Amino acid sequence: MSSPAKLRYGDKEFELPVVVGTENETALDISKLRAESGLITLDEGYVNTGAVASSITFLDGEAGILRYRGYPVEVVADQCDFLETSYLLIYGTLPTQKQLEEFRCSIQHHTMLHEDMKSFYNGVPRDAHPMAILSSVVGALSTFYQDSLNPHDSRQVEISIHRLLAKLPTIAAYSFKKSVGQPFIYPRNNLPYCENFLHMMFAVPCEDYEVDPDFVRALELLLIVHADHEQNCSTSTVRMVGSSNANLFASISAGICALWGPLHGGANEACVNMLEQIIADGGDVKKYVAMAKDKKSGFRLMGFGHRVYKNYDPRAKLIKHQCDRLLAKLSLKDPLFDVAQELEQVALSDPYFIEKKLYPNVDFYSGVIYRAIGIPVQMFTVLFAMGRLPGWIAHWVEMQRSETTRICRPRQVYVGEKLRPFVSVKDRG
Ligand code: ACO
Repeated sequence: MSSPAKLRYGDKEFELPVVVGTENETALDISKLRAESGLITLDEGYVNTGAVASSITFLDGEAGILRYRGYPVEVVADQCDFLETSYLLIYGTLPTQKQLEEFRCSIQHHTMLHEDMKSFYNGVPRDAHPMAILSSVVGALSTFYQDSLNPHDSRQVEISIHRLLAKLPTIAAYSFKKSVGQPFIYPRNNLPYCENFLHMMFAVPCEDYEVDPDFVRALELLLIVHADHEQNCSTSTVRMVGSSNANLFASISAGICALWGPLHGGANEACVNMLEQIIADGGDVKKYVAMAKDKKSGFRLMGFGHRVYKNYDPRAKLIKHQCDRLLAKLSLKDPLFDVAQELEQVALSDPYFIEKKLYPNVDFYSGVIYRAIGIPVQMFTVLFAMGRLPGWIAHWVEMQRSETTRICRPRQVYVGEKLRPFVSVKDRG
């Protein structure tokens, strides 16, 4: 236990307990600050605010380290598939063989959607963004499973977790089928998780579909590296919504909405659009780097920079490597990958990017793999959501089980009008 910090304000001094995490991150505990001093802290964007003590994921942005439950993401990606990773994140330990088999079996047998849910898809326009469909249908799960919404009933929570993990790929694949006007393909419970998803995406009733094992491997990796990233915008959203005791489906639906934004999960879609624009504009990478440096242009290099990483994002490294392998294996030459690599090289040798410690993030190369697999751009963020689901669930469960959880309710510094007399409409100028 470190000695407390001291805060002096006016003629008074206040003690702030110091909390030290297992990896020595140090925080000032201000939970009693307002009660004792009348002061609150102001930190827009929560840049310096630890909202919670969590034991799920360790992230050191300066050193470029990411660990799930103590295991480096590189090791997890090498040794586990996505379902084993999900188990690790949600339950906190690596499963035994038996636990893993039971988990897989349960997930594989909850994949179908209630037939009535199909009518949701009839109600949206064909060009609806699949992220809008995803969040709506996930929210709507709470209308079909009203018997399992109690966040304090561990059996109900468990079944909801399995339903969500099992059904999200089906919901996602149906949103794609809707957009191309093809019939929905039912899940096949004899197929593993990622194969089943690719089958539902690309099979059609009129011909056979063989899932390419290279695509499966690439997809497993992408889902695993997206599986958790501690208190990011969407995870914090899930925790915030869940802190009101909202059910798991409602909380995850809110997380999906948060992920959609282009500054978060939507960056993978924005990144591919940007690379395409550069190619269409003659491929002058330097011009776009110059634009990104010019604040007045309002342009940013999508897939570059991160709130926490001030080093190469370890996930981007894994994805770039997978990109190389997959394109070589398929003998594919994707001009997008070439431009992305050139852009990375130019940006990383530019003083602006060096000084601000801006590196490619997880979204910079993921789109190139999705394209190689045949996933359309609008589905990129949906794939991110599928990957992030176990992380969201793990955080929601951790929050629900914690004895110190309270409803999230930040304060503010009010800077609006002071009390003023009301003027009735007939007397206004
Ligand atoms: N291109 C050009 N300049 C950038 C970029 C970029 N991609 N990212 C940050 N900067 C600059 C900012 O202009 C700012 O400069 P200043 O200090 O002179 O004002 C500085 O670097 C710091 O940037 P902030 O926006 O203050 O950093 P913040 O932590 O708030 O934002 C974010 C992080 C949103 C990821 C930002 O880097 C960005 O917009 N990147 C592009 C979008 C993107 O790729 N998002 C995906 C993030 S990963 C994920 O969510 C899965």
